[in-house]
Amino acid sequence: MPALNTEVHVHLQSLDASATALARYSALLAPDERDRATRFRFERDRNRFIVARARLREILSSYLDREPPSIEFVYNAFGKPALHDASLRFNVSHSGGIGVIAIAEGRDVGIDIEQIRPELAEERTAESFFSPREVAMLRALPPGSQLQAFFECWTRKEAYVKARGEGLSIPLDTFDVEFRPGEPPEFLRGGGVWSIRTFPAPPGYAGCVVAEGADWEIVMR
Ligand SMILES: CC(C)(COP(=O)(O)OP(=O)(O)OC[C@H]1O[C@@H](n2cnc3c(N)ncnc32)[C@H](O)[C@@H]1OP(=O)(O)O)[C@@H](O)C(=O)NCCC(=O)NCCS
Repeated sequence: MPALNTEVHVHLQSLDASATALARYSALLAPDERDRATRFRFERDRNRFIVARARLREILSSYLDREPPSIEFVYNAFGKPALHDASLRFNVSHSGGIGVIAIAEGRDVGIDIEQIRPELAEERTAESFFSPREVAMLRALPPGSQLQAFFECWTRKEAYVKARGEGLSIPLDTFDVEFRPGEPPEFLRGGGVWSIRTFPAPPGYAGCVVAEGADWEIVMR
């Protein structure tokens, strides 16, 4: 098993696969996952779900020394998947055709990746999702920096919510994140024992990890 300790491993991958690869991936899934796959309306989303789940199983298998299909997931009340019998923690995110998986040992972790799309920033307005301080920080930036900054803020907030695993029962205005260009990612208010690190997302994407404690760093795998 690759050593983790103070490392949080981030695996980044394309979720698009050939028909042959898809058939192989599909065979790695559990019956409930195959059932879930059938419920996607669009084939592209179904296929990406299959690749994401199968790759998650393959990657966890390399840490656990277990066969991918034998890995069992449990889900908390908000749908966050976890392993019930190992100290390994993980979280998954996907956007566009890109999937990311964060793996940590003995510390809870959340990851988020988002494709930077102007129409999404209009639809999900900062005023609806960010704290008053974050909205003010965003609006004070030069107009040309605001789109990227919007998604930096969004992914930091989302990764925190995902690390805690309690969905939107955590009010998004109860904590502030730093997201301005050139500033280190951190919690400016709230955030407790958690800390934020960014990883090099592909061009056109923003991504980050939130994990428990301050004594960890991201290692890209
Ligand atoms: C489901 C949720 C965790 C994230 O959804 P999302 O951003 O659409 O999706 P992502 O791709 O980042 O993450 C999905 C993955 O997170 C995992 N996940 C599901 N529920 C989760 C939860 N409660 N906590 C953490 N991870 C969860 C699953 O592995 C899921 O992958 P799967 O669908 O292949 O099983 C949830 O927090 C949500 O819907 N949030 C609302 C988004 C929002 O308003 N955010 C505001 C930020 S400013």
